[in-house]
Amino acid sequence: MHGCNEVMIDFHCHILPGIDDGSQNMEHSLELAWQSVEDGITHIVTTPHGNHGILLEQLGKRDKALAELRVRLEQEKIPLQLISGMEYSADGEFWKVVQEAPECRCGVDKGDERPLLLEIPLNMDISLAEDVYFKAQLKGVKIVLAHPERYEGFERNADMLQSLLDRGAFLQFNASSLHRGFFFFDSLPKTILKLIEHAPNQILLGSDAHHPEHRPAGFGSAREYVTKRLGEEVWKLMTDITPRNLLGLA
Ligand SMILES: [Fe+2]
Repeated sequence: MHGCNEVMIDFHCHILPGIDDGSQNMEHSLELAWQSVEDGITHIVTTPHGNHGILLEQLGKRDKALAELRVRLEQEKIPLQLISGMEYSADGEFWKVVQEAPECRCGVDKGDERPLLLEIPLNMDISLAEDVYFKAQLKGVKIVLAHPERYEGFERNADMLQSLLDRGAFLQFNASSLHRGFFFFDSLPKTILKLIEHAPNQILLGSDAHHPEHRPAGFGSAREYVTKRLGEEVWKLMTDITPRNLLGLA
């Protein structure tokens, strides 16, 4: 059971209505919110897709949707905190864009310390992440790499990802990759566990929820899966302590 003061943070979620390929309306957003709360989630980083071409427009839409959803959560008495963020798609000179518009980063702090949730295009090989990470590091942009397990070559490149962790990168895995559902195959959890074990304080977990039925919110049985193998402490690191620090929450 979930303790009363427990914090559980979903670091990647398309819960904001009508912005991207995630929730299409307020009703679905509220459903995703309930699913999250029922699963013990207390905070969601709202991460609509963004890239340099549509960034300013997306930021405007995001802030509006975020404000609207916060009001509805309060009206419906759904105990869930929303934190602003974005899932930014890596393009040529992404670091310039994110320096000019730091509000596309995740968290409540003003300024450049906030991390950027970065995805590489989904048809790319994960080995591209190495180059992207070095460029970001050079420019002093703190990166959380979104769902590395969803790319071609993930298992083949586990050692490279391990060395990125050694250099201070953060990796965000999708909870559904550990137990079921969207984009799952059998050997995936083992490789993910290995990376979690390598640097448990540099791992975040997200639902990457898009739709209450097809790609629902919450962490599901990922919690049991992780705590059974790596213990409660590692779970707390991934879903509470590490994200709370990164996001600048009290
Ligand atoms: Fe996503």
